[in-house]
Amino acid sequence: MSREEILSCLLQKQGSWMSGAKIAIEQGVSRAAIWKQIQSMRAEGYEIESSTKKGYRLLARPDLLHSELIKNGLRTKFVGKTIHCYPAISSTNAVAKEMASSAQDGTVVLAEVQTEGRGRMNRSWGSPSGGVWMSVILKPEMPPSLASRINIAASLAVARAIFGLYGLDVGIKWPNDLTIKERKVCGILTEISAEMDQLNYVVVGMGINANVDPSQFQSEWNATSLSEELGQDVSKVKLVQQILFEIEQAYKEMIVSFEKVNSEWSDRSTTLGRRVRIISRTCKFECQAIALDEDGTLRVRDDNGTETRVLAGDCVHLRPAHEDTEYL
Ligand code: BTN
Repeated sequence: MSREEILSCLLQKQGSWMSGAKIAIEQGVSRAAIWKQIQSMRAEGYEIESSTKKGYRLLARPDLLHSELIKNGLRTKFVGKTIHCYPAISSTNAVAKEMASSAQDGTVVLAEVQTEGRGRMNRSWGSPSGGVWMSVILKPEMPPSLASRINIAASLAVARAIFGLYGLDVGIKWPNDLTIKERKVCGILTEISAEMDQLNYVVVGMGINANVDPSQFQSEWNATSLSEELGQDVSKVKLVQQILFEIEQAYKEMIVSFEKVNSEWSDRSTTLGRRVRIISRTCKFECQAIALDEDGTLRVRDDNGTETRVLAGDCVHLRPAHEDTEYL
């Protein structure tokens, strides 16, 4: 009997006793094998009381990203039905892409620590313990030209989750940075595999500074964290459950009508209506950010009044002329 199965039984019992002898008979394993698993769970921080007569009961659980803890109370239909959790891996996006072609729609990959976390534009992404480093594999029936919509839906979903759980006023800086008072609390890296007319899969990688000290990041990242904003740590398990729920909701809404997602995203946007500098792989220019288009791209107007759409790149929010600070 696996550790996950024992944990699942303990969770189902909701703090009452689970008989070791009964489970040993039902599952055809020895009581010693169950005892060994219980000991290893205790070493991870699970508080489990044992009694020779009554068996085992779970008194407290650690805030670790274990699939059984996340699934217990998860309110989704398909997102998070399969969850792979790792104490440490290179990058959840890299691992998700490796498994994507044979994975179910909605499969989740999570890590307590990433050793080679990656950000947009090939940057590295600091991923110490305390954050939520997570990738979701999605398989929408959609042409690659509309893939930006998924980016938009994902950023809205994380914003909804953070606002819903903690009441923090989260802004969305195009394309998909989540900010609190202009400081970055979450970054999203969406990667796709596609044929000309159909997406094979999308991997949405989210890095949320949950319980991390933002001063350990480079100052130009202008980062904050949930624990910094709230003055206390948050439950990462609850946060993941809420994000997965909101991702499923926003994903469904996006398929039915992107207009609604666009309008809520636009309300939360800190970019629209601002003067910005766009830095893409091929060019760099200043313009006015006007709107989010139908396909999820940013519509901008340059100083000659010409409007163009920007698919990807970095966006610097420019301050009014009399101030000299810029927000990356
Ligand atoms: C950005 O540059 O703002 C995007 C950062 C995305 C980081 C997340 S953490 C989980 C997933 N795995 C990665 O290697 N990157 C993404």
